[in-house]
Amino acid sequence: MSRSSVHLKPFAVLCTCAAFSLVMMGGCPFFDDLFNSNSNTNANANANDNADDNANDNEKVTGNTGLTGSYVGSERCSLCHNNTHAKWAETLHSKALESLEEIGQDKNPNCITCHTVGYGQSGGFVDRETTNALAGVGCEACHGPGKDHVNNIEDESLRPPKSIAASVCGACHTGEHQPNYDDWLTSRHAEIQPSLVEEFAEGTNASSCGVCHSGDVFVAKLNGETVGADYLEGKTEEELNPITCAVCHDPHQKTENAAAPEDGRDYQLRFAQIKYTTPSTSLADAQDGTRFNLCGQCHHARNRVWTDSSREPHPSDQVNVFFGEIPLPDSDPTPIVASRASVHLNTAEQCSTCHVVRKPFEQDIAPAVSGHTFEVNFDGCVDCHGTAEIAEAKFNALKVEFDFRAELVLEALDEWATNNDIDGKGTNSWEFTSEGGPASSGQAKIPNEIKKARYLYYYVVQGGGNGVHNPDFVREALVRALEYAETAPARLP
Ligand code: HEC
Ligand code: HEC
Ligand code: HEC
Ligand code: HEC
Ligand code: HEC
Ligand code: HEC
Ligand code: HEC
Ligand code: HEC
Ligand code: HEC
Repeated sequence: MSRSSVHLKPFAVLCTCAAFSLVMMGGCPFFDDLFNSNSNTNANANANDNADDNANDNEKVTGNTGLTGSYVGSERCSLCHNNTHAKWAETLHSKALESLEEIGQDKNPNCITCHTVGYGQSGGFVDRETTNALAGVGCEACHGPGKDHVNNIEDESLRPPKSIAASVCGACHTGEHQPNYDDWLTSRHAEIQPSLVEEFAEGTNASSCGVCHSGDVFVAKLNGETVGADYLEGKTEEELNPITCAVCHDPHQKTENAAAPEDGRDYQLRFAQIKYTTPSTSLADAQDGTRFNLCGQCHHARNRVWTDSSREPHPSDQVNVFFGEIPLPDSDPTPIVASRASVHLNTAEQCSTCHVVRKPFEQDIAPAVSGHTFEVNFDGCVDCHGTAEIAEAKFNALKVEFDFRAELVLEALDEWATNNDIDGKGTNSWEFTSEGGPASSGQAKIPNEIKKARYLYYYVVQGGGNGVHNPDFVREALVRALEYAETAPARLP
C-alpha cells in the first residue's frame, strides 16, 4: 500500500479533531446528530452553517444516528470530562481511524476492530456515516460502554471502570505487528513476588513495598490518593496489577517525555525518558524519584546505608549506580567510594537505549520487536560500539572482570569471617542478618571496614548490570571493597 494513496480529508481533520470541535462545536454536523439523537443539550443553534461546505469538500458523510446502543461516543464524555477529552483528542488514539483511511483500509473489518470503539459489538462502531463518534480509540475503548453512567452520573455503581490492567491495552497491542502486550507478559514487570502477593492480601506493606511493586499503588499515588499499608487488603493475585502499561504510559495525553519519538509520535510516557542528575550522597536524594528518569522511579535505592546490619541494600539501585552515587549515613558522611557518572550517561534514551529496543514489523519471518521484555538487547549498542556482536563481546569481557573482582571481595570477606567467627556462624559471620549473618548483638562485633565492604559488594552486584551500568564506578567500588575487607581489624569485643 503506497503512501501516495493518502487522500486529504479536510472534513475529518476539522471536525473529528475533538480539540478543535470543542471550540467549534457549532460547526460540526456530527454534533448536530449527536446532540439531537442522544442528548437534551441544545448547544448548537447554528450547527448547520458549515455543514454543506464541509461535506462538499470531501464527500464524506458523517453522523451518529447509529448511536442507539450502550456506547455513546467520546464527544459525549467531553461534556463533563472536558480536560481529559481535549488532551486525548491530541493523541494518536483519537486518530487511529485516520491512519487506516490514509492507506485505504478503513473498510477492512480485519483492521477496524482495534482502530475504533466496539466494532463488531452491539452498539459499536459501524462506519463514519452512522457512528462517527466511535471512530478511533475513544474513551469507551478502554472504559467500556458509558451510556448507563451518562444517564445517571450520581450513581457510583454505574461509573465506568478505570482499570490499569494490562489486558485492557493488550486487547489491541498484541500480535506480530505490535506485540507490546505479548512481550510484556514475559517480563518481570508482569509479576509480583509471591511473598508480596500474600502480604498485600493480608493488608500489610502496600505503602512501603507497593510504591514500586504494585501498579495500583503507584498510580494511586500519582493521582494524589493517600495509600495506607492495607490499601490492597483482600485482593487476589488476579486482581493485583503489577507494573502494567498505564504505570509507564499516560492513557490520556501526550507528555513530550520521550527522548526521540518517531515523527508525529509521543509514546505518552509518564516521566522523562532522560534525566541528568548530579550525584548525591544523601539517603533522601537516593530514593527521591523526582531526580530520576522513568525507570529510575522504581529502580532506585531504598532505605539502607552501610551502617545498617539487618539487611543488604535492596536490589533496585540501578539508577544510582548509573549516576555513580552511594547514599551515606548521617552519622558518618565520609564517601566510601568517589561519585562518578557512567560512560553510558549520554546514551540516546538512557535506560531504554539498552532495555527497550524496538524494530518494526517487516514480514512474517521478522515480526516486530517491541522491547517490552525490558531485557537487554545488544542491538541498542550499535550506535557507539559498531555491531551488536562487538558490544556483546565487550560486555562478556567486562562480566568476566566483574565476576573476578566480586569473587576476590567474597574471598576476603570469608577469610575475615573464618578468622573472626561470631556466634559460631562460620563464613556467614560477615553477612547481614537477613542473609544468614549474626543477630544484632553479633553485628555489633563487626568492624566498619567489613560493613563497608559487604555493603559495596551487594550494592554493585545487585545494581550494576555486571558492571555495565557504570563500568569505572563499579570497578572502583569493588577495588575499594577489597581494600576494606583486607585491611579490616579483628572482630570488636
Ligand atoms: C454529564 C456529565 C458526565 C458525562 C457526560 C460523563 N461523565 Fe464520567 N463522570 C462524571 C462525574 C460527575 C463523575 C464522578 C466525579 C469524578 O470522578 O470526576 C464521573 C466519573 C467518571 C470516571 C471515574 C470513575 C471512578 O471510579 O472514579 C470515569 C472513568 C468516567 N467518568 C468516564 C466517563 C466516560 C468514558 C464518559 C463518556 C462515555 C463519561 N464519563 C461521561 C460525569 C460525567
Ligand atoms: C481499541 C484498541 C486499543 C486499545 C484498547 C489501546 N490502544 Fe494504544 N493504540 C491503538 C492504536 C490503533 C494505536 C495507533 C494509532 C495510530 O497511530 O493511528 C495506538 C497507539 C498507542 C501508543 C502510541 C502513541 C504515540 O504517540 O506514539 C501508545 C503509547 C499506546 N497506544 C498505549 C496504550 C495503552 C497504555 C493502552 C491501555 C491503557 C492502550 N494503548 C489501549 C489501539 C489501542
Ligand atoms: C489487534 C489489533 C489491531 C489490528 C487487528 C490492526 N491494528 Fe493497526 N495498530 C494497532 C496498534 C496497537 C497500533 C499501534 C502500534 C504501535 O504504536 O506499536 C496500530 C498502528 C497502526 C498504524 C499506524 C502506525 C504505523 O505503523 O504506521 C497503521 C497504519 C495500522 N495500524 C494499520 C493497520 C491495518 C492496515 C490493519 C489491518 C490489516 C490493522 N492496522 C489492524 C492494532 C491493530
Ligand atoms: C487508552 C485507554 C484509555 C482511553 C482511550 C481513555 N482512558 Fe480514561 N483512564 C484510563 C486508565 C488506564 C485510567 C486509570 C489510570 C489513571 O488514572 O491514570 C483512566 C482514568 C480515567 C478517569 C479517572 C481519573 C481521572 O483522570 O480523573 C477518568 C474520569 C477518565 N479516565 C475519563 C476518560 C475520558 C473522558 C476519555 C476519553 C476522552 C478517556 N478516559 C480515555 C484509560 C483510558
Ligand atoms: C524503590 C522501589 C522499591 C521498593 C520501595 C521496594 N522494592 Fe523490591 N524491588 C524493586 C525493584 C526495582 C526490584 C527488581 C530489581 C532487580 O531484580 O534487579 C525489586 C526486587 C525485589 C525482590 C526480588 C529480589 C530478587 O533477588 O530477585 C523482592 C523479594 C522484593 N523486591 C521485595 C520487596 C519488599 C518486601 C519491599 C518492601 C519491604 C520492597 N521490595 C520494596 C523496587 C522496590
Ligand atoms: C516499565 C515501563 C513501561 C511499561 C510497563 C510499558 N511500556 Fe510501553 N514504552 C515504554 C518506553 C520507555 C517506550 C519508548 C520506547 C522507545 O523510546 O523506543 C514505550 C513505547 C511504547 C509504545 C510506542 C512504541 C511502539 O512500540 O510502537 C507503545 C505502543 C507502548 N509502549 C505500549 C505499551 C503497552 C501496550 C504496554 C503494556 C502491555 C506497555 N507499553 C508497557 C515503557 C513502558
Ligand atoms: C513502577 C515501578 C517500576 C518502573 C517505573 C520500572 N520498573 Fe523495572 N522492575 C520493577 C520491579 C518491582 C521489578 C521486579 C519485579 C519482580 O520480579 O517482582 C522490575 C524488574 C525489572 C527488570 C528485571 C530485573 C531482573 O533482575 O531480571 C528489568 C530489566 C527492568 N525492571 C527494567 C526496567 C526499565 C528499563 C524500566 C524503564 C523503561 C523500568 N524497569 C521501569 C519496577 C519498575
Ligand atoms: C551512546 C553511546 C553508547 C552506547 C549506546 C553504548 N555504549 Fe558502551 N560505552 C560507550 C563509551 C563512550 C564507552 C567508554 C569507551 C569504551 O570503553 O569504548 C563504553 C564502554 C563500554 C564497555 C567497556 C567498559 C570498560 O570500561 O571495560 C562496555 C562493556 C560497554 N560499553 C557495553 C555496552 C553495551 C553492552 C551496550 C548496549 C547494551 C552499550 N555499551 C551501549 C558508549 C556507549
Ligand atoms: C549501556 C546499556 C545499558 C544501560 C544504559 C542500562 N542498562 Fe541495565 N543492563 C544492561 C546490561 C548489559 C545488563 C546485564 C544483563 C545480564 O547480566 O545479562 C543490565 C541489567 C539490568 C538489570 C538486571 C539486574 C542487574 O542490575 O543486573 C536491571 C534491573 C537494569 N539493568 C535496569 C536498568 C536501569 C533502570 C537503567 C537506567 C538507569 C539501565 N538498566 C541502563 C545494559 C544497560
